[in-house]
Amino acid sequence: NLPTRVKLIDVGPRDGLQNEKTPVPADVKISLVQRLQDAGLQEIEVTSYVSPKWVPQMADNHAVMQGIARRSGVRYSVLTPNLQGYEASVQDRPDEIVVFGAASEAFSQKNINCSIAESIERFAPVVAAARAAGIAVRGAMSCTVGCPYEGEIAPERVAYLAGLMRGIGVQRVDVADTIGVGTPRKVQRAIEAALQHYAIDEVSGHFHDTYGQALVNTLAALELGVWNFQSSVAGLGGCPYAKGATGNVATEDLVYLLHGMGIDTGIDLDKLIDAGVYISDFLGRKSASRVAVAVLNK
Ligand code: HMG
Ligand code: MG
Repeated sequence: NLPTRVKLIDVGPRDGLQNEKTPVPADVKISLVQRLQDAGLQEIEVTSYVSPKWVPQMADNHAVMQGIARRSGVRYSVLTPNLQGYEASVQDRPDEIVVFGAASEAFSQKNINCSIAESIERFAPVVAAARAAGIAVRGAMSCTVGCPYEGEIAPERVAYLAGLMRGIGVQRVDVADTIGVGTPRKVQRAIEAALQHYAIDEVSGHFHDTYGQALVNTLAALELGVWNFQSSVAGLGGCPYAKGATGNVATEDLVYLLHGMGIDTGIDLDKLIDAGVYISDFLGRKSASRVAVAVLNK
């Protein structure tokens, strides 16, 4: 009873690049977004409006958002941790903003410098303003299975956070395995916790591949009926506040898995691989996508 269609949100330009030490010029990010939409991505997480002192790589948010050639039918989302970020984003007309909280107190403190309860207080006016302006709102939930500071995270804490997100009007949530420690049953428990407050169409999986479990965790999520997933082209990325965590599962690898199972994504794998080659070449490294490497070595 797997879904017949899956929607992928490529978070490469944001989650993928936010942790890069080498500055990536806005033009390269814009070109990456272009290549992703050309490959058929219908949702792209472009940038974040966070402190440039904390995350210097995202300091060019305006230039990137203003520079992309928007295609109708594509949803462009951005991260906004507080009203200051939201207000900065509005002039760039995001289709969706993302508030980002954590199921772990320690991670909330390290990542956004406040407790879970305080984060919800900060998000509430952001969500209200966005919804009044007709902008969609997603909530990212970090550390839903494990935390770099607290270790294993109980599903109850995911349910608690999802309930808080629902309470302030967040329309859909990402169940994130920030440090990629999850295994299928644990990931299913975290998703089921989110499902206490959100419908299956409103829950997405966001799996980092640090321990090589992201694809199998995706399959476990598909078994529950989840059909929205986040991934990064070329497996780019990592979170600056999750030391040692590698990138998201590679979009190419997810597409290969899904198409191989007869699940439609609307994505052209060859064009997607080209997009991954483009950014990997710029960064001077081999793609972290096993599928891209295999196809290119054929
Ligand atoms: P703070 O220091 O607590 O904020 O940071 P503050 O309100 O006390 O302000 C202090 C300074 O920051 C002031 O500047 C503000 O203007 C500025 P100063 O007067 O010192 O020059 N400031 C801002 N500047 C730009 N944009 C803003 C903004 N807000 C305040 N929005 C803050 C709080 C959240 C801003 C900070 O902690 C921050 O930027 N953190 C970075 C968070 C981040 O980007 N993390 C990575 C993304 S999350 C992620 O990757 C996980 C995810 O992928 C899911 C998963 O895998 O788990 C989504
Ligand atoms: Mg992430």
